[in-house]
Amino acid sequence: MARHLLEIDDLTPPELWALIELCRVEPASLQRPLDGRGVGCVFLKPSARTRNSTEMAVVQLGGHPVYITDPEVGIDTRETAEDVARTLACYHSAICARVFDHGVLERMATVVDIPIINLLSDAAHPLQAIADVLTILDEFGVSAGPAPLDGRVVTYVGDANNVTRSLFLAAGMLGAEVRLATPPGYGFDDVDLDRIRAAGIEPAFGDRPDDVVPGSDVVYTDTWTSMGQEAERERRLRDFEGWTVDEALVTAAGERAIFMHCLPAHRGEEASDDALDGASSRIWTQAAHRLSAARGALAWLVREG
Ligand code: CP
Ligand code: NVA
Repeated sequence: MARHLLEIDDLTPPELWALIELCRVEPASLQRPLDGRGVGCVFLKPSARTRNSTEMAVVQLGGHPVYITDPEVGIDTRETAEDVARTLACYHSAICARVFDHGVLERMATVVDIPIINLLSDAAHPLQAIADVLTILDEFGVSAGPAPLDGRVVTYVGDANNVTRSLFLAAGMLGAEVRLATPPGYGFDDVDLDRIRAAGIEPAFGDRPDDVVPGSDVVYTDTWTSMGQEAERERRLRDFEGWTVDEALVTAAGERAIFMHCLPAHRGEEASDDALDGASSRIWTQAAHRLSAARGALAWLVREG
């Protein structure tokens, strides 16, 4: 049966590490596992990094990406998600999809025997988390401890969202300590928290950034209003007032601390220009690693299937 990547904990920690090692291999050494094969790339939401990195990863692996938007396939309007997946599986060796409802990916994964890869849902963003781990490894190296990120502290400030969940799973499964500060009402729900704890990870929580930032290696934030939450934007702007991550906060983490953001950034909202563009920022390393992450994940999943 094909393996899927809907969320980081679809993998065991050793599998996650094997996949990450594959991301770090030069494309030429991967021997074009998608030679002459297609990958369907379904996007129900906009994307700059994910679309481009996924398509170029397929090209680097010898395959042909087909970009598909919802008006063409009409998931659950023109035909069911299951029938869309069955159709694409007639032509492609993998389906990559960016959807609103994570359940759509789960339904697709039950009916086809090719990998389904989550390119961002309301619940998770696993390829972003893999790119983030690659960025952290670039900066701090592989730990000499029992796990690759042993001793590292990854702190997220802002809205606990899809990016946060996948980041905490990936960093935590590889041994990092994870910490979270959110305004009241914007933390993980019980389902997400149970899932993170089920992976053996116990996050630390703070009511304010200052409670969790000192001693962190990474200070991470993302938008306060994710795609699909636009109707809540005004309320969220009010609730997050005073939660902008700036360079001073990153500096308060420690001398070697880095600032991370999955992008797109809303400059002046969740992050200031000085954090995004300052010496501690690694946002463009993260963006560049989206290609390595997509390539390694596709190569690993096609190999395992
Ligand atoms: N980080 C990320 O997923 O960016 P895009 O929405 O541009 O793909
Ligand atoms: N949390 C954001 C991430 C965008 C890459 C969203 O879901 O819109």
